Formats: sequence, structure tokens, C-alpha cells
Amino acid sequence: MDVKRKFDALRGKEDTVILGIESSCDETAAAVYSGGRILSNVISSQIDIHRRFGGVVPEIASRNHTLALPAVVDEALKEAGMTLNDVNAIGVTYGAGLIGALLVGVSSAKALAYATNKPLIKVNHIEAHICANYIEHKDLKPPFLALVASGGHTSIIDVEGYNKYKLVGSTTDDAIGEAFDKVARLIGLEYPGGPNVDRLARLGKPVIDFCKKKKPHEFGRLSYSGLKTAVVNYVHNLRQKGENIPVEDVCASFTAAAVEPLIETVVEAARRFGHKTVVIAGGVASNSALREGMKKAGEKNNFKVLMPSPVYCTDNAAMVAVRAFLSAREGVNFAELDLGPESNLRI
Ligand code: KG4
Ligand code: ZN
Repeated sequence: MDVKRKFDALRGKEDTVILGIESSCDETAAAVYSGGRILSNVISSQIDIHRRFGGVVPEIASRNHTLALPAVVDEALKEAGMTLNDVNAIGVTYGAGLIGALLVGVSSAKALAYATNKPLIKVNHIEAHICANYIEHKDLKPPFLALVASGGHTSIIDVEGYNKYKLVGSTTDDAIGEAFDKVARLIGLEYPGGPNVDRLARLGKPVIDFCKKKKPHEFGRLSYSGLKTAVVNYVHNLRQKGENIPVEDVCASFTAAAVEPLIETVVEAARRFGHKTVVIAGGVASNSALREGMKKAGEKNNFKVLMPSPVYCTDNAAMVAVRAFLSAREGVNFAELDLGPESNLRI
């Protein structure tokens, strides 16, 4: 059967078997989703490889994706108790991300789709992060508001449908995860800094005011570069004086200054657009202060807050498989075999 007809036959189906592939940054991942369940979720992280460089080196990331991907896909199928024959469609992240890294996942997915004559489904990485919420909340139906907070994005999105997204707020400079990583590096914490800052923040108090001169932000326009500079100046000043840096308090104060305006903006967006459900997603959605702050904001302002388990917040292929499943169910995002990576893909 023609591959497009195979894809069209998946419309409205709940038991489609999807193989998801993710390689947009430093995680090589594959997962199998079927019948409302994640059957496998394999992640080969390159964190140890990039750690000594203090961040992801794009060329090294691409090369390691090439090395790891075949075994990761095999493992995901094996854990799911399946072969490629059992898969109905292949979903792959084609953007946004590092161009060379994306190219590895996209080329591999195209090769698998071509060799097996299975439909290929293109997946937007940001949409995949949002759809990670569907894994543990099958009753999640748009409309809802989504906050995507990751290493590359800080976006507040009005989700009108699983195929209709409207950006209502974002950062004008650094992404929040990027700010976490830069602050971590400044105070000597290992890459990726976010989880380390999170751990130390819980031991400190938010007693340092990094936002003294900050003017009230315009709705929907977030900024992290000023906050990052304030932390840099504070730390350099102490170092020049030969004083100890109160690392735990710096982490707690930075975290509060990063997370609070984000939560305020989400609350305001939910109010303006009349949303009763808010989901959070992306690597920074595993941050404990953001999770707790969002739960409290939901209770106070009367909206439901959903968040994926931390394993589905940071990059993974389960979210890619689920996004592809939702696309197949609606009959959208079918990709021809000339699909290419799009580094700056937007929502
Ligand atoms: O979603 P993700 O895995 O990759 C991108 O799409 O960017 O997000 C990675 C980002 C990194 O900046 C990492 O430091 C941050 O998420 N991150 C955290 C935490 N866990 C991961 N930031 C703050 N607290 C955490 N617990
Ligand atoms: Zn991501």
C-alpha cells in the first residue's frame, strides 16, 4: 500500500504503534508508544562527553548521535517486545535544535521509513515537550495554556488544539535553562548546571536581591540576561574582595528571581486568555521551585496545573512518539522523504 494511504488509515486510531526518535541536542533517544502507553523510553545521554567542555559541542554531539542511534533504536524496540514490522509509523524531531544533531535523527528516521515503507511523521521539538503531558494525563484536551521552559526556550503558548499553537509570551534574550547553566558555570558547578543549581538552592535562602533595579516587565516579554549579569557582577565583586561566595544562597536567590516572574506571567496569561488548565514542560519544568510555585499559583488562582514526571521533562523520545501519535490521530504532519532538519523551527 502507498505510504500516504497507510498514514491516512491511522486517523482516529488509538492503538497506533509509533517509534519516536530524538536527537536535537545531547540526548540520543528512541521510544515506542502504543495503546496509550509508553512501551519503552531509551535515552543515551552524552552529558559525560560534553561535561569537560562545560557545554554541548555541536560537532561532537552529531558524531555521537551517529554512533549511538542504531543501538538506541534496537534497544527501544527490544524493550517494547517488538520489531520494526510491528511499528505503524516513525516520528522524528526535525527542529528546533542543533542542525548537525537533528540531521542524524532525521536521516536515520528517513532511512528506516524508506526501508520498511512506513509513514514518517515530522515532530516539532517544542510541541513534543508540551505533549509530554499527555503521557500521564490522557484526559488532557486543548484548549490549555503551556509553559515550555528549557535550555533553548522560554515560551508561554496558548494551545488551541494539538495542531494549533499560539505564542503569547517568550524571553527576549536568553532562555531560562541557558541562564541556569551559565550561573552554574560561573560558580563552578558541572554541566548541565540546572539540576545542580536546583539541588543547592534547596539548601540556601533567597536573601540576595539580584533584581533591585529591575523595571516591571511588560506582559509576555521575559528577560534573563540582566539577571545573569547581576549574578556575574555579585560573584565577581566578592571574588575581587577575596570573600567566600555563599553558593547555596546564590542558587536560591537566582532561582527565585528566575522562576517568580515566569510564574507571574503564566498566571496573567491564564487570566487574560481564560484558561482553567496550565501545563508546564521542558527541562526546567523538572526544577523543584518551578513545580512547587506553579502548584501553589494554580491553587490560589483556581486553575489546574499538570506537569510531566521529571524523566519526561528533559529531552526524551517518549514525548516525540506521543506527539507523532497525536498527529497521526488527527491526520497531520505526514512527512515526505525529502524532510530536512530546521534548526530554528518555531511553534
Ligand atoms: O528540555 P531540555 O532537556 O533540552 C532543551 O530542549 O533545551 O532542557 C535542558 C535544560 C538545561 O538548561 C538544564 O540545565 C535545564 O534544562 N534543567 C534544569 C533542571 N533540570 C534540567 N534547570 C533547572 N532545574 C532543574 N532541575
Ligand atoms: Zn528539549
